[in-house]
Amino acid sequence: MNGYRCFACDETQAPDFSGWVCPTCGGNLDVVNDNDTILEQIGQSPFDTPRLPLRIGRTPLYAAERLGQSIGLRNLFLKDDTVNPSASSKDRASAAAVLRALDMGVDTVAVASTGNAGSSLACVAAAAGINAVVFVPESAPVAKLTQALSFGATVLAVRGNYDDAFDLCLAASDEFGWFNRSTGFNPFTREGKKICAWEIWASLDGRVPDRVVVPTGDGNILSAMWKGWCELQAVGLIDRLPKIDCAQSSGSDAITRTVQKVQSGAPVDWSTVRLEAVDANTIADSIAVDLPRDGLAAVRAIVESGGCAVAVPDNEILGAIPEMASLSGIFPEPAAASPWATVKRMVKERKLANDELVVCLVSGNGLKDIASAQSAAGQPRFINPSLDAVRSALSKD
Ligand SMILES: Cc1ncc(COP(=O)(O)O)c(C=O)c1O
Ligand SMILES: [Zn+2]
Repeated sequence: MNGYRCFACDETQAPDFSGWVCPTCGGNLDVVNDNDTILEQIGQSPFDTPRLPLRIGRTPLYAAERLGQSIGLRNLFLKDDTVNPSASSKDRASAAAVLRALDMGVDTVAVASTGNAGSSLACVAAAAGINAVVFVPESAPVAKLTQALSFGATVLAVRGNYDDAFDLCLAASDEFGWFNRSTGFNPFTREGKKICAWEIWASLDGRVPDRVVVPTGDGNILSAMWKGWCELQAVGLIDRLPKIDCAQSSGSDAITRTVQKVQSGAPVDWSTVRLEAVDANTIADSIAVDLPRDGLAAVRAIVESGGCAVAVPDNEILGAIPEMASLSGIFPEPAAASPWATVKRMVKERKLANDELVVCLVSGNGLKDIASAQSAAGQPRFINPSLDAVRSALSKD
């Protein structure tokens, strides 16, 4: 790599820089790669290494014809990241961070997480044979906590929200010398997640989608998705870029609010843009964030790509779970259903045309939060073990 660049003030750092954030303004850093390295990495599977004996990434892209047709879309695709080892997109980031930690000879990696980054780090650390310390809000869904515990991580459920867990993880990593994988703060998570864009490009045989719709809390998956497409363009493999659309819950919409402010104003000086914290309250726990930790990078990506930022209410997110599952065969957790809820909104508001090639990222498996799925999918019919009972149940259809 060539070094780092700050998302806020554009100042660069040399490759041997040993800090985490911009020493001048505190902004998040982007890893700047040289084109030869990018081309070399696109040609291989960067996570395919004996140091991480797991199949991370290389997930399928499905043409979701029936789901798309249900609202008249002709070119809808689902990128199924639910099949990653810990069942979310976060494994891409954990892989990049753990490989970096191994390079540095560190034996403990810590993370603050709404749940998935923690279960993911625990999973990847288990495969790599290093220790994981996971800080989660006490309200994190039990499935995600149980995954992390089963993978052998030290799990600290903080009496507070994700933002409290984030600050505590930062302080503890400083105090105990751990490698901190937390989203936004660690520049290498983006390096893992950007590969998702490369995979979509390869699965589409080199076609570029019109839009990629990304579920967004901190904004790191989204900023990484944009980076992946920009690198494909930088090395000459594509000649145009997709719009990156942001899917949020209206109960956790800090990035959407900022995008709307920026898009309605004059050309922006990014060093002056600040995100305002919200009081997050949404059923989609993975995207429940007061102050997005990679917010500026995400806002830049949405605005520079010409994408939309959309916040949908929780009832539309919940309704999207059984819709996606029953019309595509892929079962999303609430956050991962938010892109489909967003696409429906955009079609309704005429922000998206029927023939656009749209890719929705399905970032986490529905089994991670059964209570939410159940509230939308309902209960089975309980019957006696007789054919009459089956007949009578069927007649109620
Ligand atoms: C399933 C799922 N989708 C989306 C997100 C949002 O990613 P980001 O916080 O980088 O915006 C997360 C983050 O935890 C997640 O677990
Ligand atoms: Zn800076």
